[in-house]
Amino acid sequence: MKATHMLPGARCQQLATSRSQLRPSAIPSPPPPPQTLIYRLSTQLRSAAPRVVVAGNDSSSPDEEQISNPDPHPATALAQHRFWETQPVRQFKDGLGPSLVEGPIEQPTPVDAVKQEPYNLPALYEWTTCDMDDDRTCAEVCNLLRDNYVVNEASTFRLSFSKEFLRWALCPPGYFKSWHIGVRVKATQKLVSFITGVPSRIRVRREVVRMAEVNLLCVHKKLRSKRLAPVMIKELTRRAHLENVWQAAYTGGLLLPTPIATCRYWHRSLNPKKLVDVRFYRLGPRMTMSRAVKLHRLPEAIVTLGFRKMELADVPAITKLLRGFLSQFFIAADLDEKDVEHWLLPVENVVDSYVVQKPGTNELTDFCSFYTLSSSILNNQNHSVLKAAYSLYNVSTKTPLHQLVNDALIVAKKEDHDVFNALDIMHNHAFLDKLKFGPGDWRRHYYLYNYRIPFALRSPALGLVLL
Ligand SMILES: CC(C)(COP(=O)(O)OP(=O)(O)OC[C@H]1O[C@@H](n2cnc3c(N)ncnc32)[C@H](O)[C@@H]1OP(=O)(O)O)[C@@H](O)C(=O)NCCC(=O)NCCS
Repeated sequence: MKATHMLPGARCQQLATSRSQLRPSAIPSPPPPPQTLIYRLSTQLRSAAPRVVVAGNDSSSPDEEQISNPDPHPATALAQHRFWETQPVRQFKDGLGPSLVEGPIEQPTPVDAVKQEPYNLPALYEWTTCDMDDDRTCAEVCNLLRDNYVVNEASTFRLSFSKEFLRWALCPPGYFKSWHIGVRVKATQKLVSFITGVPSRIRVRREVVRMAEVNLLCVHKKLRSKRLAPVMIKELTRRAHLENVWQAAYTGGLLLPTPIATCRYWHRSLNPKKLVDVRFYRLGPRMTMSRAVKLHRLPEAIVTLGFRKMELADVPAITKLLRGFLSQFFIAADLDEKDVEHWLLPVENVVDSYVVQKPGTNELTDFCSFYTLSSSILNNQNHSVLKAAYSLYNVSTKTPLHQLVNDALIVAKKEDHDVFNALDIMHNHAFLDKLKFGPGDWRRHYYLYNYRIPFALRSPALGLVLL
């Protein structure tokens, strides 16, 4: 069985072939450019238990397990980037190596020296700030994304952001309304472009840096290739500078100057019958439906004693667990209790989190979480929605990680998710094969704006999930 279509998803997420259970597709996705391949799968699997740099470690370079060698993006044969070559990002031609300074590329200016007026737009358009609390505006954003955001090549799945999801994704503690930026047609007030940032703290090695996490860049299909995207990016950058934020983190499927790391989505079928029916997967010649169903069958009940849904009272203990866990990675989210409450406390059909409470005590030993994003299925008589779960953070101190995530698969299936996706970051390698995830074809690049890391990281060095 094989995924036949790219799943439209936030930040260019895609489904792809599982090496073991899924077969080549009749409608293949274009192969990733060769220069995006950092390292081979065999290497990836060998690193199932990666050694990691501990924050506070005084070594001057990261553990070699975290570095991709040689440079995965040598300057030769890479496309020119009229816009990105003018920006404070590590350029392909810079290469890699200890001679490059790690840290901010440009120093901040005083905030009152930041350009006060928005960038110019073509005469027919105007800037708008999208108030996500306003139901009408929020619906306009949902519609713009539904019709113009990442879609699969065959246009059979259309990502469907709910208002609840957008509010969760865009309104974390301390968010700035001014970073939810739209462009409207002056005459009709139609929303035609969108970009967002949310504030976050990201630790790079030992430095905790205030950043904007940039997401949901979208230009209406009819306005493509007119260089509007760079204006959107510059305007968001200007508004971030006005809040004294000078760095940003973002991800994407497009190879731009220059990824700090490149990772891959893996996919675990929860509902093979439906995935085949909607032509999301295709059965290979030696695979029957009953075999596929059997192969992906999960236990009815969770296995781990004390496994339960996260509650508000768990926030302090989970924050502690998570901070300890994330301190292992070269780059990681720096989350406090308010962040944990926002990002991880369950919200129906948006985010799910489970803890393991040691029986007979109040001690929380393990934690797992995922968020939910659905797509509309077009032109299918039996099904209209494809529901996907995306792994967030999984921390295991007592329960084996694969058992913990298997329990997450069971609850995700009970909540009618059709597929469970996970990036090969953090310690996720340790459960992907074991739990019958299949690797996707496409890559997701992680980028930092105005912060140079003078080497390419391997995906297990990332302790950061960007939506
Ligand atoms: C992504 C999107 C906004 C780009 O718009 P566009 O009209 O194709 O591109 P424009 O002519 O406005 O601008 C081109 C510049 O933007 C850059 N760019 C395009 N997509 C980008 C992205 N996702 N992130 C950062 N920069 C991007 C290009 O690299 C190019 O700059 P360069 O010359 O330095 O390489 C548009 O294709 C779109 O809405 N796609 C669907 C949603 C989507 O894929 N969003 C990104 C999710 S990863």
